[in-house]
Amino acid sequence: MGVSQLGSESRWRTANTESVQTVFTQQNGYFLIINNARQKQENQIKAIRSFISQRVDYIVFAPVVETGWDTVLQEAKEAGIPVILMDRTVDVEDRSLYMTCVGSDFVKEGENAGHWLEDDLWRQGRYDEVINIVVLKGTEGSSSQIGRTRGFSSVVAKHPNWNILDQAYADFTSAKGKEVMESLLKKYQDIDVVVSQNDDMTFGAIEAIRESGRTVGVDGDITVISFDAAYDALKMVAEGTINVDIECNPNQADYISDVIGMIENGQEVEKQYYVEEHIFTLDNVTEAVLRERNY
Ligand code: AHR
Repeated sequence: MGVSQLGSESRWRTANTESVQTVFTQQNGYFLIINNARQKQENQIKAIRSFISQRVDYIVFAPVVETGWDTVLQEAKEAGIPVILMDRTVDVEDRSLYMTCVGSDFVKEGENAGHWLEDDLWRQGRYDEVINIVVLKGTEGSSSQIGRTRGFSSVVAKHPNWNILDQAYADFTSAKGKEVMESLLKKYQDIDVVVSQNDDMTFGAIEAIRESGRTVGVDGDITVISFDAAYDALKMVAEGTINVDIECNPNQADYISDVIGMIENGQEVEKQYYVEEHIFTLDNVTEAVLRERNY
């Protein structure tokens, strides 16, 4: 089994890699070759080519961006090696170039963020007020960035009073999240809501907001909407620092192993499998939820 992981930019990614290493063990009948592409598509293409020349039985890969995979996936197809996409998907002309994709419904995650904001503004009696929003986006061209942006934007479109002040890329990392948030805070005096497309960027953004003298969260100046629901972020939800965290489930290798079982048994597989995900607020982050969190 050749696995091309796209990098190690976030807590989520570390957990996703751990899920692969825990499930695809020799004990479970696998010989795992895993490569970290460090956010570079060219490294992923190299890794896939090396898996092909090693004649692996399956290639699993988490594509850093959606486009640019047609040639290398054609090579895998010609070598007769099934490709399973993990986490993110690809945008290719011929969908037979990969067997299936196991990951998150990123559009739904973005919509959930928007629907939560609708409910929250309603609860606060601010439904018709002008609401100034900034969006910290993840890696440009990645499925998680594209899907979450699309989903949230579809809800924004229904609210002429929701004013998107800015949307800026911050690469899914804390350092970049802080840097980008600092510049947004200098540019805009009146930010009501930050939508940060992963927890790591959120941690950086919260630091920047606090250093600027403003407060965040349930009783704060700025509402914080985050994605992933990592342990450290859920603790902040429980404290009221992050208002809502839309879960992105990194424990995907078990699902992939089930899909491989189906393929091995000659069963038909679907083109897309979504993992189970929830929405976390102050009301449902219990001790039990925190105890079970593995990322
Ligand atoms: O594609 C999933 C996203 O990638 C996660 O939200 C983020 O933390 C990761 O880097």
